[in-house]
Amino acid sequence: MNTHINPLILDAATEVVQRKWPTAQPKCGLILGSGWGEAVSIFQGEGLPYSEIPGMGKPGVMGHAGNLLRTTIDGMELFIFQGRRHWYEGEGWNPVILPIYILHALGADTVLLTNAAGGIRDDLGPGSLMVIKDHINMLGSNPLIGPHHPKLGTRFPDQSEIYNKTLRKKLFEAGADAEGVYIATSGPTFETPAEINQYRSMGADAVGMSTVPEAIVANALGMRTAGLSCVCNWAAGIGNAPLSHEDVNEVATATLPRMKKTITAFLKELAHEFES
Ligand code: HPA
Repeated sequence: MNTHINPLILDAATEVVQRKWPTAQPKCGLILGSGWGEAVSIFQGEGLPYSEIPGMGKPGVMGHAGNLLRTTIDGMELFIFQGRRHWYEGEGWNPVILPIYILHALGADTVLLTNAAGGIRDDLGPGSLMVIKDHINMLGSNPLIGPHHPKLGTRFPDQSEIYNKTLRKKLFEAGADAEGVYIATSGPTFETPAEINQYRSMGADAVGMSTVPEAIVANALGMRTAGLSCVCNWAAGIGNAPLSHEDVNEVATATLPRMKKTITAFLKELAHEFES
């Protein structure tokens, strides 16, 4: 299978969203990772199932709803992607990066990426909310590999500061516990203890299987990017329990009140920033 980004699919998807909501002008996008679905239960709005968006397909992971919600918070229009597609699902890069492309095409300049992660650094135990300061790409690939499409930025995007400093500060003030470096592996296996030792020595503080592709593309498009990890387990070999997706979801559920509070306070702060 050709995994490359296909701009025809991206444009077809954008058109469907524009046809559904001709007046849509989101300021900001939110992509919900594992465990984050319920954190937005307070938001009301109209939805567009991923199955109706060309190229988005159907999330293959339990707990990922597969719906684009158009909503507002304190007068700021917001698109919430309820569920993400992952590289390990094997359907190439289009479904993974489509939310970013759509947001950018509709004029949003800010995106918050959320995920569940395993904690590597000592202070990042289960239940911690970590603001992503920087990332390490261990996916073994990059969504921008392939023919260069100028619509996706320059051929060689600078990545000196992917995660916007102002947004990082706002997330911290909104209730996150710490900042750290997120390392993305392809999955779908969890890591081995030897891999985690290696990642620690490389400077990684938390590990997961997502977020980095979207951040790479959002940065290439010049969007202000923020990332927030809910640490749901100690990474392999640190705790003594085997890892499972069910346990990850269980910790995320227990952490929901803080996840909710943090993203709501962050988005309200953004809304006020756009107002002024
Ligand atoms: N590793 C990779 N992805 C994850 C983990 C982990 O320990 N926890 C939640 N997502």
